[in-house]
Amino acid sequence: MAVLEISDLVAEWDPATGERLPVRRSEVVAALRAAGDDRAARIVRRIPVLGDVLDPDAVDRLLIRAHTELQRLNEEVRMAERFAELLAPVLAAVRAEGIRPRVADIGCGLGFLVRSLASSGVLGPDVELVGVDFNRALVAEASRLAEDERLPCTFVCGDAFALIESAAVYLSNGVLHHFPADALPEFFRAQDRAGAQAFIHYDLAATRLAPFGAWLFHRARMREPLGRHDGVASARRAHSDNVLLSAAAQATGMETFLFEPTRYTNPLCAAMRPVVGLRPQLTGEVLRTLGRRARGLVRAR
Ligand SMILES: C[S@@+](CC[C@H](N)C(=O)[O-])C[C@H]1O[C@@H](n2cnc3c(N)ncnc32)[C@H](O)[C@@H]1O
Repeated sequence: MAVLEISDLVAEWDPATGERLPVRRSEVVAALRAAGDDRAARIVRRIPVLGDVLDPDAVDRLLIRAHTELQRLNEEVRMAERFAELLAPVLAAVRAEGIRPRVADIGCGLGFLVRSLASSGVLGPDVELVGVDFNRALVAEASRLAEDERLPCTFVCGDAFALIESAAVYLSNGVLHHFPADALPEFFRAQDRAGAQAFIHYDLAATRLAPFGAWLFHRARMREPLGRHDGVASARRAHSDNVLLSAAAQATGMETFLFEPTRYTNPLCAAMRPVVGLRPQLTGEVLRTLGRRARGLVRAR
């Protein structure tokens, strides 16, 4: 049976115009019940409606609350530092090729990663940072938070499959599992076609115990029922190593790798690990610089 995340169902945008579409609560509840998820259906039934349409303002407030809690988890597991560790040698190699170091975070949510990298300045003053998400409310909140702190970064609305932001390096954090396995190859191909020099996409490792680890972690650290629910669903939907590797290999102009494959992962934890793509001219230097940190990586064939 399909595993669904509430956050994927309660807000919808027209991919052509970017306009918000009405979402009927009864349809979301029916879809969740058909997937055997009565608990999620109960959570959705508590969202206010206008007629039968989910109140968009209430949905936005709910998603912003859940993403704020998600930001705390990301801070706790030091995701920005983990990205920076890989990004530093990648951007050094990009600069050595004479290419502008522009980095786009796809599915940025509240933009915690972009804001954190902009705030620390760890990547250097010449790096341009942009966050992209198709959820307008999250993009607006990310922009507001960045303006509050006068951070050197921007946020735009956009779809992961229609890249409007050209970048030397594409990132994502906790986004791959939102795409069905048969859509993943196009996700990677789009970045190859866009001329990316590299990509780094972190997502949950699909271990047997990851759903339990996710339950424990989200229970301890999150209050919002939607966030608790979707955290566990994410671990249940995580793509296997083989699915990720064969999809990433569709970026045929790049060499692609899975770092920390599941055989190296603590099965109790819903560990985050990256799929990395590099233009062949960058690979040698980046892997040399990473040294022991690149241990255990699996190369896609
Ligand atoms: C689990 S959240 C992760 C947010 C953020 N990366 C973080 O780590 O806090 C997944 C994000 O992906 C966004 N998203 C899902 N599908 C997308 C698509 N096709 N294009 C752009 N953003 C997408 C959602 O709106 C949501 O903000």
